[in-house]
Amino acid sequence: MHINTKAISGFSKLPKSGKLDWVTEQFFSDPARVRQELKSWWHSNEEQQRLLDGFSENTISNFPLPFGIAPNFLINGNMYAVPMVIEESSVVAAAASAAKYWLDRGGFHARVLGVKKMGQVHFSWGGDARKLESVFDELACELRKNAAPITANMEKRGGGILDIELVNLTHLEPKYYQLKVTFDTRDSMGANFINSVLEDFARTLDRFISFHPVFDENEERDIHIIMSILSNYTPECLVRAWVECPVEDLGTFGDGFTAQSLAEKFAKAVRIARLDPHRAVTHNKGIFNGIDAVVLATANDFRAVEACGHAYAACDGQYRSLSQCAVENGMFRFWLDIPLALGTVGGLTKLHPIAKHALELLGNPSAETLMEIIACTGLAQNFAAVRSLITTGIQQGHMKMHLANILNHLGADVREAEAAMLHFAGKTVSFTGVREYLEGLREVKFAAL
Ligand code: MEV
Repeated sequence: MHINTKAISGFSKLPKSGKLDWVTEQFFSDPARVRQELKSWWHSNEEQQRLLDGFSENTISNFPLPFGIAPNFLINGNMYAVPMVIEESSVVAAAASAAKYWLDRGGFHARVLGVKKMGQVHFSWGGDARKLESVFDELACELRKNAAPITANMEKRGGGILDIELVNLTHLEPKYYQLKVTFDTRDSMGANFINSVLEDFARTLDRFISFHPVFDENEERDIHIIMSILSNYTPECLVRAWVECPVEDLGTFGDGFTAQSLAEKFAKAVRIARLDPHRAVTHNKGIFNGIDAVVLATANDFRAVEACGHAYAACDGQYRSLSQCAVENGMFRFWLDIPLALGTVGGLTKLHPIAKHALELLGNPSAETLMEIIACTGLAQNFAAVRSLITTGIQQGHMKMHLANILNHLGADVREAEAAMLHFAGKTVSFTGVREYLEGLREVKFAAL
């Protein structure tokens, strides 16, 4: 590799077409073709394109993902058609199938168990901890008073700072303390709000310790702010989603599957995911297939949701399934507790041209309602996956989509695709198998000309 020619300074200053030219010329063997293809994804409406470019930096094209709908979600008595942005085939179909299944069995239920978010000012200080504790109430008043211009609006909306705590961690790391702050950010995800408050707190804390007379002038006025940042671990911003019905209402699933045997096998599969981390990760991945798709469609922060969800899955020291199942007294219950820090105002939620319609489609929900909808979608996805795994196996549902993708890749026309769908129905699909089948079809067609 010619490292020097591939390095550049001032890339960000180039116009978009200049960036595209440079990238394609440096990294592709057929720059003209790649440039044309990437350019073909630019939005025809310049204003829309400017909006998209404004969401990030150094953009050279757009990266389209399918925007699908899983209809028939009955959640807390309300009907929803759930918007999902995901590239994996079968996910939307599975969510829709689970939604339809539970529609006839009372639908989904969900309840928000808490909305607290958290942030920390991490600092280093070598003074007498008892002195700091003795003036902590005074400090807390000062922190709140100085941050008032930042918190005023949030307070008007019913949120703001909930609590400020001093945490002494000098037993773990010399001189290490935290201000641990909890927040209610109402319908916004709140990252900007929390970080602004914390950075303001850090300035006040620095001044307070540097000038308060209780601290010794020579030794105790030296404070170092390490960092001020929200925590994406929000176990108290939690929602529970569940489905339940009498076991006999589960119905039967193919040969030998009574409702009772289905319920028991399902509960065992979930218990396995509670006790075995290897299975738990895949099981939770299935939950996040649903969660991430709606989080993305509504322009929420899927990295925050994922990081937090997985940390929560390991909250007792072992990584476990986020969902649980019980079969008791003739009832089947399946539920999911998951922390979800979401917003329905602020950020990109109303700026993104599609996300704003996704939210509109959901009736412009509050953040709490969106937590409920998204948790139910995750539970639906998990239900569909586990039901397939313990009955037909997962490949049956995947094969059709897999075949369609291969046919697309091999440039099959409508007739060839129809013939292949018939030929491969109920059979295992492989790339080589489909290619050979198409070659056979094309040879016959060629011979007939
Ligand atoms: C595939 O994307 C998700 C599953 O593997 C989830 C699971 O195994 O529960 C089907």
